[in-house]
Amino acid sequence: MADLRVIGGDLLPPAAERRHLLAVSDLTADDVARLLATAGSFALSQERENKKLPTLRGRLVLNVFYESSTRTCSSFELAAKRLSADTMTFKSAGSSVDKGESLKDTASTLSAYDPDVIVLRHPEVGAAQYVAGVTDARVVNAGDGKHQHPTQALLDLFTMREAFGRLEGLNVAIVGDVVHSRVARSLVQALALVGAHAMLVGPPALLPEGLAPVSHDLSAIADADVVYVLRMQQERMLAGANFVPTLREYTARWGITPERLRTGQRVMHPGPMNRGVEIDARVADSEAALVTDQVRSGLVVRMAVLYDLLTTGPVAVESAVGVA
Ligand code: NCD
Repeated sequence: MADLRVIGGDLLPPAAERRHLLAVSDLTADDVARLLATAGSFALSQERENKKLPTLRGRLVLNVFYESSTRTCSSFELAAKRLSADTMTFKSAGSSVDKGESLKDTASTLSAYDPDVIVLRHPEVGAAQYVAGVTDARVVNAGDGKHQHPTQALLDLFTMREAFGRLEGLNVAIVGDVVHSRVARSLVQALALVGAHAMLVGPPALLPEGLAPVSHDLSAIADADVVYVLRMQQERMLAGANFVPTLREYTARWGITPERLRTGQRVMHPGPMNRGVEIDARVADSEAALVTDQVRSGLVVRMAVLYDLLTTGPVAVESAVGVA
């Protein structure tokens, strides 16, 4: 990606108009409250026999995915459909990206269809911000490298609020490969916005400094209401770098088993889960797990994000889902 080398979120100049959802840091507590409330209304609409709303009829939502995805891609597509928007999913594999087309040219090509929203997942940090600068569409960051994944954080908050009836004061232990995780970076910021507390738990090599309090002792999860388990992001680990001695040893020391949880704790995982590595299958399939609730929340939260971006005027959108 020759044209993407400079990226690094904060270094880039502010977008001329604030009308994208690129990072959690751009959201205020009020924005989060409004988006969760909207998602709650959409959840009610999804209990009806006819689940489709006419709200975004005639609008075009483009999903552009340069990395694998099951949940994020499918839920954005379904969210757009449930709001009656047209939707199209572009996956880089099998496209002209294989023939060397740059992100800029691909974005310009797709922008010729005049999309209202581009949902982008890309392995480079800052890719969504970059595309926001070359298209007239609103851009939603569906994951840029290890940087941000704001809609995942919103759906996680929605799921926690459904499970506990509140967010303020909740203790969330994020366990595992935090250093390569855009999910963790977004979630820590989102939890702070709603007055919940994050703690990072895992081996030193997998925990970044300065993000949240850390513990290198798994017993620290005892105080947590939610144990949020992360996948080992092997695709982001440099070849030859030893973040953990072996996956087996990681599992033995840090894997989340029923024995390591206390009664009443809930377990979350953004997926995809590697059963038997970071999470024991008995936990994944237990009543404590909120993993399928997270997927269900993903649909209504993404409906809320699309709705918010496309139905609020420029000024309100600016405060709603802006980018710094
Ligand atoms: C995550 C991602 O892609 O960042 N998955 C997701 O969006 N549900 C986490 C992961 O890949 O481990």
